[in-house]
Amino acid sequence: MASETEKTEIDVRVLTEAEAKVELAALSGQLASANAAYYTEDAPQMSDAAFDALKRRNAAIEARFPALKRSDSPSDQVGAAPATGFGKIAHRVPMLSLANAFSDEDVTEFDTSIRKYLGLGADTPLDYTAEPKIDGLSLSLRYEGGALIEAATRGDGSVGENVIANARTITDIPLRLDGAPDVLEVRGEVYMSHADFEALNLRQTACGDKVFANPRNAAAGSLRQLDAEITRARPLRFFAYAWGDLSAPLSDTQSGAITRLGELGFSINPLTRLCAGPDDMIAHYAEIEAQRATLGYDIDGVVYKVNSLALQGRLGFRSTTPRWAIAHKFPAELAWTTLEGIDIQVGRTGALSPVARLRPVTVGGVVVANATLHNEDYIRGFDGKGEQIRGGKDIRVGDWVQVYRAGDVIPKVADVDISKRPASAVPFVFPEVCPKCGSDAVREPGDAVRRCTGGLICPAQAVEKLKHFVSRSAFDIDGMGAKQVEQFHADGWITEPADIFTLQERYGTGMQQLKNRDGWGEKSAAALFRAIEDKRAIPLARLIFGLGIRHVGEAASNMVALHYGTWDALAQAMEDARAQEGPAWDDLIAIDGMGAVMAGSLVGAFAQEAERASIERLVAQLDVQEAKRADTSGSPVSGKTVVFTGTLEKMTRAEAKARAERLGAKVSGSVSARTDILVAGPGAGSKAKKAAELGIETLDEDGWLALVADL
Ligand code: IVH
Repeated sequence: MASETEKTEIDVRVLTEAEAKVELAALSGQLASANAAYYTEDAPQMSDAAFDALKRRNAAIEARFPALKRSDSPSDQVGAAPATGFGKIAHRVPMLSLANAFSDEDVTEFDTSIRKYLGLGADTPLDYTAEPKIDGLSLSLRYEGGALIEAATRGDGSVGENVIANARTITDIPLRLDGAPDVLEVRGEVYMSHADFEALNLRQTACGDKVFANPRNAAAGSLRQLDAEITRARPLRFFAYAWGDLSAPLSDTQSGAITRLGELGFSINPLTRLCAGPDDMIAHYAEIEAQRATLGYDIDGVVYKVNSLALQGRLGFRSTTPRWAIAHKFPAELAWTTLEGIDIQVGRTGALSPVARLRPVTVGGVVVANATLHNEDYIRGFDGKGEQIRGGKDIRVGDWVQVYRAGDVIPKVADVDISKRPASAVPFVFPEVCPKCGSDAVREPGDAVRRCTGGLICPAQAVEKLKHFVSRSAFDIDGMGAKQVEQFHADGWITEPADIFTLQERYGTGMQQLKNRDGWGEKSAAALFRAIEDKRAIPLARLIFGLGIRHVGEAASNMVALHYGTWDALAQAMEDARAQEGPAWDDLIAIDGMGAVMAGSLVGAFAQEAERASIERLVAQLDVQEAKRADTSGSPVSGKTVVFTGTLEKMTRAEAKARAERLGAKVSGSVSARTDILVAGPGAGSKAKKAAELGIETLDEDGWLALVADL
């Protein structure tokens, strides 16, 4: 491909005008067809490198013969964007992540909380598997009738990218299975060994290509290649450790299921063990940690999973992690370097965050040049409670500082060696005005963070809000990332989210057009307008999250959306709860997981006039979709408010609550006129009495279990 063009290439300097004209026409056709193949999912004709080579050739010819530049010149179109080149696959069973444990106590606590949830005594045997946590990227492989038919990356957990052509090139991944269930989704980690990583980087250096920072980046970069032939040349490996959709169970235990995956032909990790409880798990962790340096591939901890699949089923999931598994992480890695400067960044909620500019240093295989310094107290040597940290040593520009990095977490400056402090170093003075808009930056009592009071007038806050708005968990607008937001904002094309939805109206036609901007062309502008149109119909939860209200994260946005259902109901409730008291406020803070701080922040955003107006301008552009719970139409308790009281004997309170919610019920802690069902065990007191007074249906535990049986 690339080599073919090289063979026939004539030096541009000796091209005649006629030859140039013919070649430009050919290049325009070639690039257009490559682009089309690229964007119509998964049929790329050439590698990114070959595509870039053609584009460079085209630009070189145009530079020599400017008059020959075509009206459909490929130079006016944005290049390939790998992330949009793959087809999307919706995971039938979400791909979740794992909660973390950082100490032996966390592991004991994990076991205790599982026992508590299941109502198991300390003496009841409870086994777990323990296995290395591979530092790669997860992949879900779907087999139907024994044939590999889909391979999806994790993506956002619900929708991933289809990398089937690439997965097929990985020798650890069987293309056919014998004796497997008819439908089987096998999940595991794609990774690269240390030796293969070193060799790849040597080859990359020799060709003048990108050098990868660590094996995980190399694995990710190699798997997400549009040209599967490049993936084939990169030695990727795969360990199977989990499964998704299944037509028949693999086993009744985790260890049995893993063994079965091994029998079906998958690589399973040889350090997987069955452990009888926390002591055993911690011992196996130490064993794995001792072998870490000699394994030949990166691991970043040990994963523990409840062995019984029946118990896994009872334990179920929190919003993004299973209750039945945890990752016990290895301690972080450290390095020392010079602090060259401290910059202040202004975030979406106005928080002023100090960022350390470091002389670049390698920490655990990754080059770190920036690290967080948290807040002004942290720099001064104090924690949030006013107590000394680092023995009260402050941090100054010029200091010799320790950088700490753990897994994916943002590196931080952890310590300072004042014996190496230069005489010229002076204490850092934290700004009291916003460095971006000049507004006062104030600290509320009890808040560790100083915030810019500029609100919507602060360009830094506005830009960060917009970046959040278009981000993956919010509106997820393809083709509009941090870079585009910054450009559009700088030029005044977009100042608030509503402006995104009038972009086409303003810059699709007329004097100033998006397609004529630097780096844009007819196609890319049309694609962006289309991507924006696609998001006019938006689920309520994404809208709430997209507003970027302080304290209101993704999980909270989901809860709020499910609670109110529609935008109108939410807006009305926020209006009614404005005084932060009364029934609407009580109803808001009764939402599971909602605290007064989050509720106050939510209500505050709607009460603030300028912000409210901006939200309304946005909503006027949208078709906000109603939030519905998972299909619980067959459930007799769907939409009902249930209260549990007294002692439950067949399930714990937490389990009862999770199950009721899964069936579409709302679980509340107190009885009111809104309560539909009271489930009362022995010892029920005032709540049972109140329910009787209000004429609310009351069931005992068996009555409840009969009601929800078979669901
Ligand atoms: S189990 C439902 N086992 O770690 C959870 N994950 O931090 C299924 N990972 O997204 C995951 N090694 O990519 C599991 N032995 C292992 C793992 C493992 C690596 C990754 C996986 C997951 C991430 C969570």
